Amino acid sequence: MLLVLGSINADLVFEVEALPGPGETVLCPGWRFAHGGKGANQAAAAAKLGARVRFLGRVGPDPWGPLLRRGLEEAGVEVDGLANSPRASGTAVIAVDRSGENLILVASGANLDVSLDQLDGAGLGPGTTLLCQNEIPLPVTLAALERARAAGARTILNLAPAAALPPGALDPVDLLLVNEHEAAALLGGEREPEAAAAALAGPQRTCVLTLGRAGALAIGPDGAWRVPALAVRAVDTTGAGDAFAGALAAFLDLGLSLPEALARASVTAALACERLGAREGQPERAAVEARLAELGPPVPITAARGS
Ligand code: RIB
Repeated sequence: MLLVLGSINADLVFEVEALPGPGETVLCPGWRFAHGGKGANQAAAAAKLGARVRFLGRVGPDPWGPLLRRGLEEAGVEVDGLANSPRASGTAVIAVDRSGENLILVASGANLDVSLDQLDGAGLGPGTTLLCQNEIPLPVTLAALERARAAGARTILNLAPAAALPPGALDPVDLLLVNEHEAAALLGGEREPEAAAAALAGPQRTCVLTLGRAGALAIGPDGAWRVPALAVRAVDTTGAGDAFAGALAAFLDLGLSLPEALARASVTAALACERLGAREGQPERAAVEARLAELGPPVPITAARGS
């Protein structure tokens, strides 16, 4: 079973010609609601791929609350751990331009009240996986990862949005998933992809580094691999990273090897970009398997350079 402790948001999506710069106003005809929040997006992606997923988070006492709960249920996620908060439900304003690039503002609201005790009785233990992101209070995330490690669960941290971490914070993490920007925030500066992933990996920790259109790579105790990205016509890249994270966690939880999970996560993320909204394009497993051959198998990296 996969447990996701994280954020859930109402996304208000604005389709614009070009993203605004500082001090700039841009107009568009209207906006549309979409289900969002990195935690909930990842939970939904994993459930659509066939994993058993339980989501632990909070929503507010507003009309978004029941709507957001229903969105997760419809994706096949167990929501008995979705609790209430007196604050407003998390809300994101997302501008998407003609090339599919985005700009996101998040009002965290109820996500700020997600608490460690929500793991009580959630079933954490050997054979389960805990997947966290960085849209709830960081001390709660770090304590949850420590608790999961102590309980014998697999621990995955997708450190998005980017943050610097206190020393030792990654010790209980089995798999760290970051993009190049997030890796640079952790390392205090940019490095070549292989060097960055090698520096963030550890004797017991794999680092998976996503590289956008260049695919992804993984370096860790089980080996090192690189996978390309699937060529698709991207309409909206919002939630591509979430689709990758949810898929990677789902396939590992389902018992696939790291290279097998990595290839499927890359396909999942690409397919998720073909529709507007963070979750609308998330594929089911059959669609992922059908496109896998286009990618080819993950290529072993023979000489990963350290820091
Ligand atoms: O990763 C995309 C997500 O980031 C959006 O759904 C938005 O809610 C923010 O959390």
